[in-house]
Amino acid sequence: MRVLSGIQPTGNLHLGNYLGAIRNWVRMQEDMDSDSQCFFFLADLHSITVHETREQRIRNVREMAAALIAAGIDPDRSVLFNQARVPAHAELAWILNGTARMGWLNRMTQFKDKAGKHREGASVGLFVYPVLQAADVLLYQATHVPVGEDQKQHLELCRDIATKFNADFDVDLFTIPDPIIPKETARIMSLRDGTAKMSKSDPSDMSRINLTDDDDTIAQKIRKAKTDPEPLPELASALENRPEAANLVGIFAALASRSADSVCSEFAGQGFGAFKPALADILIETLRPIRERFEMLKTDVAQLDSLLGKGAEKARAAAAPTLAGAYDALGLMA
Ligand code: ADP
Ligand code: TRP
Repeated sequence: MRVLSGIQPTGNLHLGNYLGAIRNWVRMQEDMDSDSQCFFFLADLHSITVHETREQRIRNVREMAAALIAAGIDPDRSVLFNQARVPAHAELAWILNGTARMGWLNRMTQFKDKAGKHREGASVGLFVYPVLQAADVLLYQATHVPVGEDQKQHLELCRDIATKFNADFDVDLFTIPDPIIPKETARIMSLRDGTAKMSKSDPSDMSRINLTDDDDTIAQKIRKAKTDPEPLPELASALENRPEAANLVGIFAALASRSADSVCSEFAGQGFGAFKPALADILIETLRPIRERFEMLKTDVAQLDSLLGKGAEKARAAAAPTLAGAYDALGLMA
């Protein structure tokens, strides 16, 4: 089993990133046996599709590395690195540009969402973003890719590219990866609108819990979270048309590692006046140690850079045979 996943180092992590992605990475890392390995990386080459200053980029990579370690990624057990220090990602992405089809990329909903009405003005990088993502996965022969639901389509594209490459060049080079999408935490929704995903790009900070929010801020955001006047039902299925309530119950269940039904039955008949303080408590207890570790780690720049340097070295070694195989399949390095 080879697990791989990446995250763009763009700004602060929030509860959606933690429950939807990072906590699953940590769980997979904990479940590894001796002949399995995990690769986790900061997708800084992907983040060039977002405009940032040089200084911001440097800071973001370090901060995201600190956040991942604070959340439980152990750089001794998993290979933790940033993509830009492993040139094989960019090299394989270019080769795979020969395999990926325009029609496939035209169907990517993330490009449509991010480009919006300004399709003609969107960068080519944003359009071919999923090809680089395919290279990330295929380079390491990953078998399992833990991601949030929004990345499912990119993983399907990755499988299509791998299959076509293997067939076109009559090789058995790329492993076809499986996405791992935990159902319960696939989508954590905004605290202000239960139909919108919690996201760092939401202009309202009240819509999300950031991993850097202090205890009081968390409590206040939960107190002000949008709800409805109904009491909680006995079963979670009754929350179907109550998106805000369903989201809060879902967050509680995810944090407590319980089913939404068990949370509902505990609070059945009670209103949000009773439920919200309990939710705030469990959020605060879960996030406090992560935040404290993060604050400590992020100031130790030398150590972070050294950890990332060592991770990149391991990643380069692991990526080399697949990249060589790809060049060889095309007859580019005979
Ligand atoms: P954002 O939407 O805040 O820009 P990213 O797109 O950078 O977040 O996502 C980083 C990772 O976190 C991805 O694996 C994504 O699937 C996951 N993720 C982001 N938002 C959520 C959410 N609201 N619920 C669950 N997972 C999420
Ligand atoms: N595109 C992913 C996101 O926005 C990040 C990512 C880049 C990724 N490369 C990857 C995720 C490879 C999984 C595997 O969240």
